[in-house]
Amino acid sequence: MATTKFLLSLLLLVQLAATAYSIGVNYGTLGDNLPPPAKVADFIKTQTNIDAVKIFDTNPDIIKAFANTNISLTITIPNGDIPKLIKLRTAPRWVVDHVKPFYPASKIKYIAMGNEVLHWGDDALKSNLVPAMKTLHNALVREGIKDVKVSTPHSLGIMLSSDPPSMGRFRPEVIPILTQMLRFCRQTKSPFMVNPYPYFGWSPEKESYALFRPNNGAHDKFTGKFYTNMFDGLMDAVYSAAKAIGFGDVNLIAAETGWPSACEFPVCSVQNAVDYNGHLIKHIESGRGTPLMPNRKFETYIFALFNENQKPGPAAEKNFGLFKPDMTPVYNAGVMRNQQGGATPGPTMQIPTRPSTPAGPTTPAAPKRGKKGKPAGPAKSTTPATPATPASGGKKP
Ligand SMILES: *[C@@H]1O[C@H](CO)[C@@H](O)[C@H](O)[C@H]1NC(C)=O
Repeated sequence: MATTKFLLSLLLLVQLAATAYSIGVNYGTLGDNLPPPAKVADFIKTQTNIDAVKIFDTNPDIIKAFANTNISLTITIPNGDIPKLIKLRTAPRWVVDHVKPFYPASKIKYIAMGNEVLHWGDDALKSNLVPAMKTLHNALVREGIKDVKVSTPHSLGIMLSSDPPSMGRFRPEVIPILTQMLRFCRQTKSPFMVNPYPYFGWSPEKESYALFRPNNGAHDKFTGKFYTNMFDGLMDAVYSAAKAIGFGDVNLIAAETGWPSACEFPVCSVQNAVDYNGHLIKHIESGRGTPLMPNRKFETYIFALFNENQKPGPAAEKNFGLFKPDMTPVYNAGVMRNQQGGATPGPTMQIPTRPSTPAGPTTPAAPKRGKKGKPAGPAKSTTPATPATPASGGKKP
């Protein structure tokens, strides 16, 4: 009896340890030198602690490759396919074609209805977004699939303000859509996905705050909360914005975040990337949550799994990967299995030794959104972002 009890509590402990956190990664495929999906799935399962993978399409080879790995998947419906999914007949067909052949062997957990539609989509696409999410959800339920949730990631371009975090608010023009969406999320117990990139909020003064290095922090005078890193600040800004329109209870997911290890500016470096991602992973593992969401765990998906040599745009675009295409680490961010001591970010008490003079012609302002929702590298001017292409770091340029 005592032994059974002991074994039970041991089992519980093991389970707690196993479910303490979830490290996800975005598996983008814009490279002509990437390994085949089966190799990637095997590598992630056997060599890393990554237990969740997000892809930017519904590639059946990738979905199949993750069958029986127990790695959860987020698959993404291309933005252009959204309008046809509002049709009552198309959505069930879509489920039959893209989910049923793979599920549940492939642990599809979320279906993203497009990517950053409110940032990149035209008005027609934006207005189709929530109806398409509802139609797809209903189609899933009708097929008896109840634990695949429908969501959609947002760039922080949806934010009117993010600083201080408690004053985080959505842009007025997206509030009607976000209200419907958050109501849908609440009703279907689906998460609200955002892509917080402290990289976009980088400035020489904010570097340590953005990279989880020792810094003076930021005090939110409205709540008395103290922030030691920009990631928490951005997540709390989103939380505050959702709460301000009545949805503080909806779970958040950081669907994309990361830092490039190389580009033509000093903001990108292996040291910066390892500091950001390494400390981020430790932060997530700690289960601490954020100042406004203490002990609330949100799944976090690092961008990205691989450096992708065919990503359009500036060099930074191609260098967000944790791994090179040959699956060797670009740096040790703490995702490898069986490594001692987890992440090995740089010494946290040290002043960065890199020259602080930026390589750009002027002091780079916060990096701005580039094409496809990825960083365009530090802006060369300090022109404030227009509402159409807002800087999404949450700090004003
Ligand atoms: C699969 O992963 C879940 C967490 O996502 C975990 O609770 C469960 O124990 C895992 N199952 C196996 C067979 O490893």
